[in-house]
Amino acid sequence: MKIPFNKPLILNKELDCIKRVFDIDQFSGNGEFSKKCNSILELKTGCKKSIVTSSCTDALEMTALLADIQPGDEVIMPSFTFVTTASAFELRKANIVWCDIRPDTKNIDENKIESLITSRTKAVVVVHYAGVGCNMDAIVSICRKHGLILIEDDAQGIDASYNGKPLGSFGDMAAISFHETKNIQCGEGGALLVNDHGLVERAEFIRDKGTDRIHFSKGLVDKYTWVELGSSFLMSELQAAFLYPQLENSIIVNQDRLKSWDLYYKYLSEFIEEEKLPVIPDHCVHNAHMFYLMCESFQERRSLIDLLNLNGIGAIFHYVPLHRAPYWKGKYENLNLEVTDSVSQTLLRLPMYYGLKENEIEYICNKIKEFYKGGK
Ligand SMILES: Cc1ncc(COP(=O)(O)O)c(C=O)c1O
Repeated sequence: MKIPFNKPLILNKELDCIKRVFDIDQFSGNGEFSKKCNSILELKTGCKKSIVTSSCTDALEMTALLADIQPGDEVIMPSFTFVTTASAFELRKANIVWCDIRPDTKNIDENKIESLITSRTKAVVVVHYAGVGCNMDAIVSICRKHGLILIEDDAQGIDASYNGKPLGSFGDMAAISFHETKNIQCGEGGALLVNDHGLVERAEFIRDKGTDRIHFSKGLVDKYTWVELGSSFLMSELQAAFLYPQLENSIIVNQDRLKSWDLYYKYLSEFIEEEKLPVIPDHCVHNAHMFYLMCESFQERRSLIDLLNLNGIGAIFHYVPLHRAPYWKGKYENLNLEVTDSVSQTLLRLPMYYGLKENEIEYICNKIKEFYKGGK
C-alpha cells in the first residue's frame, strides 16, 4: 500500500471556474473570483476585510507593515512554527522574542508571555498549531492590558474556532494559508484578515504595491500613485478561481478529515497513552488539519518514521525550532525553550488528506502497533 503524507485537494470544480476567468478576461488580481473568495472569508470569520494574497507569507509580511514595525521593536512569538511567521518581522528588523509552547496543544504558552514583555514590545504573534486554537481569552487580555498588537498566524486554522468564535477573528489581523498542504488550497495562496477597521484602507494600499489604486478603481481619484510602503501581494484570478469552489465546500472537506482524525484517535488510543496523542481543549473546535503522535525520544521517532516509510506510509516530523536555525548563527544558542526543543524532536505527523480511507488508516495504525508491540 502507498499512502502519501498529503494529497493536494482537488474537487473537480476548479477547471470550470478557471474557464470562467478566460471568459471574463481579467487574469490579474482583485477581480470577480478574488472578491467572491474575500466575501466567503468575511462571512466565515466576521472580519472587517479579507484580502486574498499570493501566500500566507505575503499576508504575514503585510501584518508587519500594517503594525508599522520599526527596527528594534520586539515581537513575541513561538519558535515552534514555520519560518515566515518570524521572517515577516525580521524583514522589518524587529527583535524576535521567542516564547515556549504548551506541551498539550503545542501552541504558545500564554502563561509565559507576560514575563517577556518590555517597553519595546510592539506585538504578539500566535500560531494556531494544527488548527487548534491558542488560549485566546488569556492572550487577548494580555495584549489589551499592555496595549500590544495581536496577530494570528492562522495558516492552518480555516473553519476552526475557540469558544464558538472563528480563529482569525481575535487579533487585530490574521493570516491564512491556501498552500497545497492545507485543508483547502490553490497551490500557493493566502489571505489577510483585518479585524481592526482602522487598518483596512492601508491594507488595501499595501496589497497594491503601496498605491491608492483601489481609490482609482472606485473612481475616487483620476490617477493612482504611491502612498504607502507596500508590495505586490495580490492573488491572481487564476488562483482565486481555483480556490473559490474549495472555499465554498470547506466544511464538507473538513468533515471528511475530521472523520479520519477520529478514526486515527480511536485506533491509536487502544495502545498509545492519551498524553501522546493530540489534545483538543473542550472549548476548541478543530479542523483536522493534522494528526500527530508524540514519541518517547528522537531515536524512537527516527525508527518509527523509517518503518512507516518502508511500508509506503508518508510519515514525517515537523518544525525545527526557529531559534535554532542556522540563519541566526548561534544568536539564540543559550536560549532554553524546553518544551519547544522536546516537541520538535519527538512529534511525528501521519498522512492526512481529504479522501483518506478507513482501511488505509487501519493499515497505518496496525504498522504503528507492530512497532510498539515489537519492542521498537
Ligand atoms: C504556521 C504557518 N505559518 C505560515 C505558513 C506559510 O504559508 P504559505 O506557504 O502560504 O506562505 C505556513 C505554511 O506551512 C504555516 O504552517
